[in-house]
Amino acid sequence: MSETNILSGKVVSDAVYTALENRITSLAHQYSAVPGLAAVIVGDDPASQVYVRNKTRRFLKMNLHSETIRLPEETSQKELLSTIRTLNSDPVFHGILVQLPLPKHIDTDVVIKAITPEKDVDGFHPENLGQLTAGNPRFTPCTPKGIMRILEHFHIDPSGKHAVVLGRSNIVGRPMSILLSQKQSYSNATTTICHSGTTDLRTFTKQADILVAALGVPEMIDDTYIKKGAVIIDVGINRVKDSSEKGYTLVGDVNYDAVQGIAHSITPVPGGVGPMTIAMLVENTVEATENVYT
Ligand code: GUN
Repeated sequence: MSETNILSGKVVSDAVYTALENRITSLAHQYSAVPGLAAVIVGDDPASQVYVRNKTRRFLKMNLHSETIRLPEETSQKELLSTIRTLNSDPVFHGILVQLPLPKHIDTDVVIKAITPEKDVDGFHPENLGQLTAGNPRFTPCTPKGIMRILEHFHIDPSGKHAVVLGRSNIVGRPMSILLSQKQSYSNATTTICHSGTTDLRTFTKQADILVAALGVPEMIDDTYIKKGAVIIDVGINRVKDSSEKGYTLVGDVNYDAVQGIAHSITPVPGGVGPMTIAMLVENTVEATENVYT
């Protein structure tokens, strides 16, 4: 039985940060500019709090500017839109991120559209999603962009392969399928997108040379779903309650132990896709800053 390789997002993200250092230094020397991110979080969803904290910590570690705007759960859509408008016109912030999901009484699409596309470092604005779809991306959503970097770093070329994406969200699945099917190097895959309406999921997953799992169902994908030699990208970050001090353990959408020796390689949870989402957010914010000055 051949061993399954670990695709460490931690290793790839460290390389991204090293590569960004020169660009950050140039911005400081040439324009006295420090990339700045405004992170907006509404409500107190514990997982979202952790994600935003991890993002802002990284900005501070890179000596970049980051501020978190915390709004209570009962914030009205009007108040949130007003906050975004203020951030849109504040030159200190080159990037604006509104952490999702938002409370149910707020229309996410309206909020995303309110972010000026030039500061939409998440790449969720319809203008930016449209540019990506047309093959001329401005900001690419961070998680799928990070996954493409993992593949490239480990010399896994999707060209001519069958990539199967599980999930159709605007955050991961949909942009992922677009990125994997582009006519360019380290892409060019035949791409299938599966979702909650897919009949007989295994028919598709068993054909996957590259399987991207972004379903949000803890450890659903086991050995019965995959083909021998498949590359598995596990996007899931699920909290499963246990008796540990924290009260939970993080698991992916893939049953990591079950696919050992069958998969060619797999991203671990944690330490796989998660660190890359943050690295791409930093990269997009540096790019947004460069766009202001160059
Ligand atoms: N919720 C889950 N992933 C993301 C992300 O990449 N950006 C934002 N803003 N919210 C998220």
